[in-house]
Amino acid sequence: MIQEWRLDDGQQTLVLAARRGRLPECVYWGAALPAREDLGTLLAAHGIDVTGGMLDENPDLSLCPEAVRSFPGQPGLILRDTDSTPLLPKFCFAEAREEDHALYLTYRDDDARLGLTFGFVADPETHVITCDTTLTADRPVHLHWLAAPVLPAPQLSDEMIDVSGRWCGEFQLARTPWSAGMRYRENRTGRTGHEHFPGLIIPTRGTTNCSGEAYAFHYGWSGGHRMLAEELPDGRRQVQFGHAARMETAPGTEFRTAPLYITYSNAGLNGCAVAFQRHTRDRIVQMPRPDRPRPVHYNCWEAVYFDHKLPVLQDIATRAAALGAERFVLDDGWFGTRDDDTRSLSDWTVDPRKYPDGLTPLIDHVHSLGMSFGLWFEPEMINPDSDIHRAHPDWALGSEDQTLGRQQKALNMALPEVRDFLYDRMSAILSAHAIDYIKWDHNRVLPMPDAAQTRGSYALIDRLRADFPLVEIESCASGGGRIDLGILRRTHRVWLSDSNDALERLRIQHDAALFLPASVTGSHVGPRHCHTSGRVIDISMRAWVAAQRHMGFEMDPRELTDHEAAVLTEVTGWWKANRGWMMRADILRLDSADPAVIAEQQLARDGSRFVTFAGKAATSAQIAPRPLRLTGLDPAATYRVDLINRATAPNLSRGKPALKQGPLVLSGAYLMGHGVTLPWHFPETMWVLEGTRL
Ligand code: GLA
Repeated sequence: MIQEWRLDDGQQTLVLAARRGRLPECVYWGAALPAREDLGTLLAAHGIDVTGGMLDENPDLSLCPEAVRSFPGQPGLILRDTDSTPLLPKFCFAEAREEDHALYLTYRDDDARLGLTFGFVADPETHVITCDTTLTADRPVHLHWLAAPVLPAPQLSDEMIDVSGRWCGEFQLARTPWSAGMRYRENRTGRTGHEHFPGLIIPTRGTTNCSGEAYAFHYGWSGGHRMLAEELPDGRRQVQFGHAARMETAPGTEFRTAPLYITYSNAGLNGCAVAFQRHTRDRIVQMPRPDRPRPVHYNCWEAVYFDHKLPVLQDIATRAAALGAERFVLDDGWFGTRDDDTRSLSDWTVDPRKYPDGLTPLIDHVHSLGMSFGLWFEPEMINPDSDIHRAHPDWALGSEDQTLGRQQKALNMALPEVRDFLYDRMSAILSAHAIDYIKWDHNRVLPMPDAAQTRGSYALIDRLRADFPLVEIESCASGGGRIDLGILRRTHRVWLSDSNDALERLRIQHDAALFLPASVTGSHVGPRHCHTSGRVIDISMRAWVAAQRHMGFEMDPRELTDHEAAVLTEVTGWWKANRGWMMRADILRLDSADPAVIAEQQLARDGSRFVTFAGKAATSAQIAPRPLRLTGLDPAATYRVDLINRATAPNLSRGKPALKQGPLVLSGAYLMGHGVTLPWHFPETMWVLEGTRL
């Protein structure tokens, strides 16, 4: 018996096939195949030869490689029976259900009394395929490892790109050459983490941002993932994603992986980036008021830290509004007796010493300026020095003698009484005030990985979202420590990094754009002297870097000179005038000929306009700027391109490059094939080039 199924989304085709009722293999994943392709022949053509030293038949690289079938690599499933005996199932076909762009395949092992279901949903608009695996058992079993559908990786690929990072240095791309054996990433911190963004990109040989093929994966789960990319002795390659191993602490009768999001591109890394950006924005994030423009934020953290004084905050709010802010976010320090980070987490009542009349006078003032009001919480956390910890020490997760993180423990979110308590405290604050935004923080790792903790967090957010549907939530975890599509299904913005250093931010947001759209990526103008790097960066660079994403301010506006305030007001005005299309645009990373220049192009969905940001992150090796090739344009169309901040060219730019004089009209073919020649500029500056299709 041969079985075969195909999924198409207009850009990619995925073919699954199986013999003798066994688990299916992905026998093709790549550029769209013709409709007439014979899938039976494709299955036969896919088989590899056998020679000395090999088994007589090559074990299938199935959607869940089974250890018991002599599979030479890592299995897709590891589990034990109730009495701890290892289970080595062999699954047989039970049922297939095909729907429009969706496929569900169920298999059973009647001896082991287990079931396995694979789900695949294609999206012809975003070109992201969402898949998952569900294991069922007729009695509770212990799960060690369950992979989402296991997929083959291309063999015309020399390296893979996955993502690491650190506090103030998120989204660092790590390139690892393929070799025999495996690349294994496992995040055992219990949160997505700065260190382990759950993404993988596999470019084929020669792929750049703008051209070539690439395959990309993202595991949508906030509790820590495991990824392995393995080359088998016969040359085949497999990719597995799932929850971190052994994070299901209790036996169960059903386990389901988080969704694995995959996409194939023949338009370079940008093809994958655009698919993920669109899918995140249009399918995952559910904006309470999608038609409302993204408001310019002001966040007071770096201005006042824990030192909250009503008149000062009112003054800051007035100044922020004058600069163009539309939402004021009151950060950490408003509750309990929170004068520093050693105390009060979980005591979610307004501090009467700092706010004798409650938050209302500040909120009223913010509203009178035409801004909306947001508030910081860190719900999953508790300080030992808090009233709640004194009353309920057993609510904390982990042992009594655990090492604290930022002087705090995590609450055990699997306990319904903990979730009820948090719901009551948070809903009391939300009900009593006109608050339309929560900055939801998570500033430490867990004492041990625990899937029930993540499910508990999700349940609390879901309950609050259901009862306060107009409240937006920002996911923060010491900056970008909880960014993934599991949390973004429930939230609306991410605090990408605690680094407001524009130079660092330029790089972080450029690399994050492989997965994240501008509309969810918070980016703030920080203080003149950056608090986390010590650098001093000019206001123009700070403002333009923030204007590349969802813009906001985080400096104390009282520090601004008249010049700085004028530049910031102007760039904010530009951002507001353009956010309507920019927050829906595709971010295309440009292949910069100069490694000192980090450049991107935000292209409107209808191709009618774009803006190119060319950030000079370092001193160039060569003396004159190299042409910067644009991308994604119609070669036959003509475009008017204009350097909108040419006035910032320094005196040392002595020549007369055409873009310094005025706008140019050029073909898409020229702009992409030769590129724009920008004027000379200092390091730590940004050129901003607008383009309009004529
Ligand atoms: C974390 C966040 C910051 C700020 C502080 C408050 O570090 O990333 O933006 O909210 O907590 O304590």
